[in-house]
Amino acid sequence: MHMRTQIGIVGAGPAGLMLSHLLHLQGIESIIIENRGREYCENRVRAGVLEQGTADLFVESGVGERMQREGLIHHGIYLRFRGRDHHLNFPELTGGKSIMVYSQHDVVKDLIAARLKDGGQIFFDVKDVAVHDITSSAPRIRFQGGESHEIDCDYIAGCDGFHGISRPSIPAGILRVFEKTYPFAWLGILAQVAPSCDELVYTRHERGFALLSMRSPDTSRLYLQCDPSEDIEEWSDDRIWNELRLRTATDNGWTLKEGRISQKGVTAMRSFLVEPMQYGRLFLMGDAAHIVPPTGAKGLNLAVADVRIFAQALDLFYKQGRTDLLERYSEICLRRVWKVQRFSWWMTSMLHRSDEGEFSERVHLAELDYVTSSRAASTSLAENYVGLPFDPV
Ligand code: FAD
Ligand code: DHB
Repeated sequence: MHMRTQIGIVGAGPAGLMLSHLLHLQGIESIIIENRGREYCENRVRAGVLEQGTADLFVESGVGERMQREGLIHHGIYLRFRGRDHHLNFPELTGGKSIMVYSQHDVVKDLIAARLKDGGQIFFDVKDVAVHDITSSAPRIRFQGGESHEIDCDYIAGCDGFHGISRPSIPAGILRVFEKTYPFAWLGILAQVAPSCDELVYTRHERGFALLSMRSPDTSRLYLQCDPSEDIEEWSDDRIWNELRLRTATDNGWTLKEGRISQKGVTAMRSFLVEPMQYGRLFLMGDAAHIVPPTGAKGLNLAVADVRIFAQALDLFYKQGRTDLLERYSEICLRRVWKVQRFSWWMTSMLHRSDEGEFSERVHLAELDYVTSSRAASTSLAENYVGLPFDPV
């Protein structure tokens, strides 16, 4: 089966879906190819925090209605160390900005619903996806979905995450890879219990990092620093709650609310990116081009930031025949990507326990002390957390 579209999109995660939605609003056609089923995509538990700019884009582009109804606006976070909480008030530090707690799988659900309602084409459950002729002016996507399909496109957007086929389709030697792995991972749980705190709590403790987050007024999302090779079977519910209790204990009588654990898993942590983020007519965005460690909740937001630039570049191309912004796509995205890499690495180092010894432990505690006592340092954390402003393009 032979098809044609303007933009072929590989991957129906937040990046691919948002791109297709924004292009539709600009009058540009696209087709999304996804190798998983719709139900799987709509139920994959992942991110939960949207920057102010990401949430605003959802509202402005007409897909923010449920998020505005069900999402939780947070005006800050707590940094907990030495058994004490230190609050950072984001609106006060950033001129009125906040964050939105809303599940990634709800974002995905809302975007799939919007694309299908607007007549968008998404092929789920396909196999053997491959991109061809990416350095020509007529790149193609081929895949199996009942029968063999081929889509002729003007451009291809590789939105297929870290393990997708887009990035490996670029010949060896073109991409420069930057990578850092960490000697720890996160054990994440979803629990059917009300959040123990009104806002997110990032805790540094000598037993390791812990994070108290949430999904709704009766669902909590909690994370514990663990070993990357940790076997989840070794972690009974009791052991998880016990460890969370020890790491998040305070000296002011606060208690952790515990409940039924409905899901648990271990996530590895890495910093990764490639330069450039484009080759010929294949453009990489989101996790296909970069991964940040989760501390600071940036991955989904960075994916949406790439998509925003690519959509603007395509608008100029189709309306004015200009390719200058497309040519600068990588350069523009990478400026933000490196700043977000820095922030995620910094938050991770400051909050996790490592084997670097007592000196390093004390320096990280001093850093937390500084960040929570200096207005300049709090402002820096806050402006990164709520999302850096976009450079004019
Ligand atoms: P993905 O979401 O990975 O989507 C890629 C899509 O491509 C998938 O649907 C995949 O099935 C599909 N695909 C893969 N291979 C192929 C193929 N060969 N053909 C077709 N389709 C393919 N980020 C935040 O901003 N805030 C957070 O709070 C946060 N918390 C996180 C917690 C966890 C436990 C994890 C794992 C991640 C978290 N992240 C967070 C990161 C965030 O989830 C990712 O950065 C985000 O999903 C990136 O979106 P994406 O669309 O680029 O990639
Ligand atoms: C969540 C994930 C993060 O990585 C983070 O920094 C904050 C919250 C979450 O899943 O809720």
